[in-house]
Amino acid sequence: MADAARTPTGVPGLDTMLDGGLITGSIALLQGAPGTGKTTVGMQFLYEGVKQYGEAGLLVTFEQFPHTLYRDALAHGWNLRELEQEGRLRVVFTSPQVFLTSLQSPISPINSAIRDIGVKRAVIDSVTQFQSLSAQPVELRAYYNHLINGLRREGITSLLLSEDSGPDFVRSDRGRVAFVVDTVILLRYVEIDSVMQRAVAVLKTRGSDHDKNIRRFEVKRGGLEVYEPFRNRQGLLSGTPRRTG
Ligand SMILES: Nc1ncnc2c1ncn2[C@@H]1O[C@H](COP(=O)(O)OP(=O)(O)OP(=O)(O)O)[C@@H](O)[C@H]1O
Ligand SMILES: [Mg+2]
Repeated sequence: MADAARTPTGVPGLDTMLDGGLITGSIALLQGAPGTGKTTVGMQFLYEGVKQYGEAGLLVTFEQFPHTLYRDALAHGWNLRELEQEGRLRVVFTSPQVFLTSLQSPISPINSAIRDIGVKRAVIDSVTQFQSLSAQPVELRAYYNHLINGLRREGITSLLLSEDSGPDFVRSDRGRVAFVVDTVILLRYVEIDSVMQRAVAVLKTRGSDHDKNIRRFEVKRGGLEVYEPFRNRQGLLSGTPRRTG
């Protein structure tokens, strides 16, 4: 059987870690502490998707006001308004409730956008906001399933951004969204010799192999740059690593 088709994220080092990229049509969770670069990866995935691969994108945000999002993107050299005007990107500012409802209705603006511009990639910033929909984990999980099934049905390769509030990334995931997605990528701060560094790890990829290393990365103008693995350290994901060897 041929290997599943890949959708490169557009972050070169991350694509190497993912054995070429996300599996086309799959759903990935990008979990990270505040300011680690989640929104940046999301914008890079969509921008490079259009520019390098000619794939239209959908960015759904519950977090940022339009002008701050466009401004932050421009600081990376990504003109999202231009892509929107060219009909290759749609940016939607909404609430989780409105978004879920509209995903269900074939004639909703979101579904029209998905069809009109032929969306192949989507970013949801962030799914943590879904927690406001219910205090019940079981109900919350149903909402997540709803979202994920909607995206899968359309065959859209999706990146769900999510806040990560501590070393115990499973406990902070109240609706257990990490279990229903295909891929989980983690962005973390680690303190090494009194310097805060950023670390990226791929925790799972259904149907594919992936890099098991925890690598250092930086956010630069133009997006994420992924570097070598951390060496001789243990407990990196706890935030307070120890030196080994
Ligand atoms: N144009 C830029 N050039 C260099 N670094 C940048 C640039 N824009 C953002 N950064 C870095 O990226 C960080 C924030 O990135 P981003 O907004 O993607 O994080 P986030 O994980 O989405 O944050 P939040 O949890 O607040 O939503 C900044 O704190 C800064 O260090
Ligand atoms: Mg963000």
